[in-house]
Amino acid sequence: MSDPAQGASRSIAPWLWWLTLVAVAVAFSLRGEAWLRRLLIYLSGAGWARDAVTRLPLAWQAANRFVSGETRDEAMRVTRALNDQGLLVTLDFLGESVADAVQAAAARDEILALLDAIAAEGVEANVSLKLTQLGMKIDPALAESNLCLILERARRYGNRVRIDMEDSPWTDTTLAIYRALRDEHGYDNTGVVIQSYLFRSAADVERLVAEGAWVRLCKGAYAEPPEVAYPRKADTDASFVRLMRRLLSAEARRNGVYAGIATHDDRMIAATQAFARDQRIPLDAFEFQMLYGIRRERQLELAAQGYRLRVYVPYGTAWYPYYMRRLAERPANIWFFLSNLRRR
Ligand code: FDA
Repeated sequence: MSDPAQGASRSIAPWLWWLTLVAVAVAFSLRGEAWLRRLLIYLSGAGWARDAVTRLPLAWQAANRFVSGETRDEAMRVTRALNDQGLLVTLDFLGESVADAVQAAAARDEILALLDAIAAEGVEANVSLKLTQLGMKIDPALAESNLCLILERARRYGNRVRIDMEDSPWTDTTLAIYRALRDEHGYDNTGVVIQSYLFRSAADVERLVAEGAWVRLCKGAYAEPPEVAYPRKADTDASFVRLMRRLLSAEARRNGVYAGIATHDDRMIAATQAFARDQRIPLDAFEFQMLYGIRRERQLELAAQGYRLRVYVPYGTAWYPYYMRRLAERPANIWFFLSNLRRR
């Protein structure tokens, strides 16, 4: 990206490349893929790693595969192009874990401007955000008041705002803020995300079904301890299928639940399609969601088959933690990243 000191990167790139290559090779050969994922998630939150990686101009070229651009204008251009292909969009201004109220206010103001732009340009897009971006780690009340202003603006335009789910120490607070906004302040234009790797999610889904919530179901992208989350992917996948069936059940739909099934996994997609077919669920009663830059052909294929397909389109300069989570989901992406650096 443009901001990081590009001059400095010229001298550190070769050794950083070799160091990273060696670290990745050692981590992979000694401890395997699960350990490598944990290492990458750790690096996603490490300031020193962020500084080192974002200084590399070619790192942005690699990250750019998953991030629509640095500016709102670039994100809107991508949104229009996706809409033209029959795809829906959720726009995400990148940022998380802000350190002070000024940064939280800046994020809030950008999201307000984003809602204005969506309305002005008439694109088919809603908004996703993170509560730590709005100050939740400083003071949950700060995040709540920032979100309140955002929901008010969204309501003016008839638009909706989804609260992404972050790591498990914040699940309770996130759900509490969501419910305060919905039940106490009366904003029904907001929704939350459920992560199938968490043991608690079955109970959370039951409550959301009773409330008729607007829910996105995903597997979960953080490194969680075995006390709170399934360590094995097979269990996370089985949980995903169970939760998907509950969220698409006749009772849930009667209560007003509208579910976004967020996955690139063909087995999860097939399970959803089979359940929808068996239960005669109309195709517009739910949607599939995928991330920008991942399985683009599959996105178009599903849309062509008549499914609602929403693409999560991030933008902004704070791309580092988002990008590292994408590497952690698929460590094979690391070779693409390293080969980009190597080409310099
Ligand atoms: P899985 O990881 O099993 O991948 C299945 C296949 O998809 C892979 O084999 C590969 O082909 C492809 N794939 C997956 N990830 C890839 C990648 N990074 N690069 C290239 N190919 C990849 N998480 C969270 O904790 N909180 C949240 O709020 C959200 N929000 C969210 C929104 C949307 C729209 C999506 C699609 C995902 C999220 N996530 C999330 C991330 C989610 O939890 C999960 O980490 C990823 O979606 C990867 O899981 P899959 O279901 O795709 O399956």
